[in-house]
Amino acid sequence: MTVAAASPAGASPVQDDRAAAHPVQLSPLRTPLCDLLGCRYPIVQTAMGWVAGSSLVAATTNAGGFGFLAGATIPADQVEAEILRVKQLTDDRPFGLNFHMFQPNAQQLLDLAVKHRIRAVSYGRGPDKKVIGRLREAGIVCMPTVGALKHAQKAIEMGANVITIQGGEGGGHTGSVPTTVLLPQVVDAVQVPVVAAGGFYDGRGLVAALAYGAQGIAMGTRFLMTTDSGVPAATLERYVKAKDAERIRVSHLVDGMPQRMLDNEYLQMLEKASPFKRLRIALSSALQWKAQTGMTTAHAMRVLWQALREDPSSVAQTVMAANAPVLLERSMIDGKPAEGVMSSGQVAAVIGKLSSCQDVIDGIVAQAQERVAVLASLRVAEHRS
Ligand SMILES: Cc1cc2nc3c(=O)[nH]c(=O)nc-3n(C[C@H](O)[C@H](O)[C@H](O)COP(=O)(O)O)c2cc1C
Repeated sequence: MTVAAASPAGASPVQDDRAAAHPVQLSPLRTPLCDLLGCRYPIVQTAMGWVAGSSLVAATTNAGGFGFLAGATIPADQVEAEILRVKQLTDDRPFGLNFHMFQPNAQQLLDLAVKHRIRAVSYGRGPDKKVIGRLREAGIVCMPTVGALKHAQKAIEMGANVITIQGGEGGGHTGSVPTTVLLPQVVDAVQVPVVAAGGFYDGRGLVAALAYGAQGIAMGTRFLMTTDSGVPAATLERYVKAKDAERIRVSHLVDGMPQRMLDNEYLQMLEKASPFKRLRIALSSALQWKAQTGMTTAHAMRVLWQALREDPSSVAQTVMAANAPVLLERSMIDGKPAEGVMSSGQVAAVIGKLSSCQDVIDGIVAQAQERVAVLASLRVAEHRS
């Protein structure tokens, strides 16, 4: 399949010695995104808190995809070691780093991205023009994830040079517009490469995304459900057994923002809990997260004060913010799926088994090539008839 090869404005491939060290091998599914990111296939493994560590990123990257380290949940004193470990496991292949501007060590992650010449960073809301300008000057691809057209436009105005759209069916924090509506809407409105996320898991999805005009797909849940993710077996079992997409649902109760997750005992408890009990849970998470991240009381107060100044209605959300990483850790690290949150895309309902990252990527590529051939043969048949 030949995909529009013109390099959109502001998206010229990073030309440096890193590209020379690992020339991108030709693949029939290659899009300009592959040159920009330095990967073989237009398949991205997104950041997932407590899941996308160095092992998963290295496994994805070595299989020809592009992996993002989940920088928001890696303890500050281990981030650099994780970056070095990916480099070592991949023979210095390009990979990405995810961060949130509100995390206490955001500046450390930005400095490390520049120091280690990380190929791309992903983020949600947050970084201003100055921060993005510094990253772009260092040759780093700035690739935020958005759930609405207006957020894509705002992100580009701030300096982003690739946009990942996440449709509402996607895992973790998510919007309400489905991929099939958001993707063409954003592709038609922006001039930078667009990557499609939310609901992808196979080669048909990759071909469909390319047909919509995306330059690749990004997947979270599919990569979580691999033998390389390191997620404890008890938790993975819940994902594999999830067969009802309707029970992979959105709730605001974890941190005040819409978040898609597997239905479980903990979510049901939260739904039944009184506002007072929910506040107690949020405060306890906040204290645990403050201790884990080494956040100073002054920083916590600054974050609260900023929320109060910008939007008083967001104060409750700010207090609840620590619930997401703390409750995710219980499932993803402690292996206690009934006692925490299991962020998930609805796509978990159609992924029947765990595979390695290599098998996932090989399978997607093989099926995509097969679908492209089938589509081409339909055209041939049409001409003959
Ligand atoms: C367990 C889990 C944890 C996640 N954690 C993060 C995160 O820390 N940062 C982030 O930007 N997105 C996070 N996400 C969202 C994913 O990066 C990705 O955008 C989403 O999973 C894509 O939809 P899909 O699950 O249908 O592939 C998370 C998703 C999951 C399933």
